[in-house]
Amino acid sequence: MTDKPKVWLNNKIIPWDDAQVPILSHGFARGSAVFEVFGTHAVPDGIAAFRMDAHLKRLEQTVSLLGMELGFSIQEIVKAVSKLAVINLSERGLVKIVAYWGEEAIINLVLKSKLDVAIFTIPTSEELGLDKVKPLSACISKWKKLHPETIPVQAKACANYLNGYLVRKDANDRGFDLGLNLGTDGFLAEGSIESVFIVKDGILKTPPLGRILASVTRDSIINAAKHDDIEVCETALVKEDLYTADEIFTCHTGIKVTPIFRFEELELKAPGPVTTQVSEMMNNIINSRDSRFKEWFQMLYRH
Ligand SMILES: Cc1ncc(COP(=O)(O)O)c(C=O)c1O
Repeated sequence: MTDKPKVWLNNKIIPWDDAQVPILSHGFARGSAVFEVFGTHAVPDGIAAFRMDAHLKRLEQTVSLLGMELGFSIQEIVKAVSKLAVINLSERGLVKIVAYWGEEAIINLVLKSKLDVAIFTIPTSEELGLDKVKPLSACISKWKKLHPETIPVQAKACANYLNGYLVRKDANDRGFDLGLNLGTDGFLAEGSIESVFIVKDGILKTPPLGRILASVTRDSIINAAKHDDIEVCETALVKEDLYTADEIFTCHTGIKVTPIFRFEELELKAPGPVTTQVSEMMNNIINSRDSRFKEWFQMLYRH
């Protein structure tokens, strides 16, 4: 990044390069940091965040699931995001919020202090590839999804992404773009950083909540699809459902819908007709062309 945006850190606006933690901090050396990411979009009268309320609710839930406490209220974080968006003139991009114990903790595993909060705005770029839809290949990873009784998988905790890293690396080592993982019970879970949908006989199917992250994009697709009379079914899926799918796509905040053109050795139409419909539906929503969902935007600043 050439002109690095400013960072909001514990109520101070500081240069990007000054946003650092000690190597022996609990958040880094014990991997206990948590985070949230959501998109910012140009809307007709300014810049808005897409479903910031849902993302901040998930942040609260993450912190509570892990028995932690944020150093700032959600209202204070909302104000901070708006302030930072004005300072950095954020348009299309991402907001990343990281909450963490910045203090060094060499022996002590359970800390009582409140979490530090850092907020970053990340402008879209060639590398980030927001809004650039490129069909990808996917496989089933040899790594299983974390069992919900080992760690809360609904928590957006940095430590959970070691599993995501292994899944993606396994897929890349085998020549695929993405890995999807099954739970230890053999049912389909999700990708490293994405939820997964299949299309079978015109019906959208996706694994139910419980063993996966409660993705905000997944929720948006399910809700909007119902409004557009696309049948959606949240149901347990197995590997064979992927092998016999008509279409497969993944989704996450950064890229709303990514068609899968190859799953293992199965070639798929990418995008197929239903994926195209869902993709257009989401593009219309995030580009403010669908007024039915305007409450999904929270204004960060007005021109
Ligand atoms: C494991 C996992 N699943 C799904 C998603 C998609 O979630 P969202 O739509 O809220 O970005 C993410 C996003 O980071 C993720 O990390």
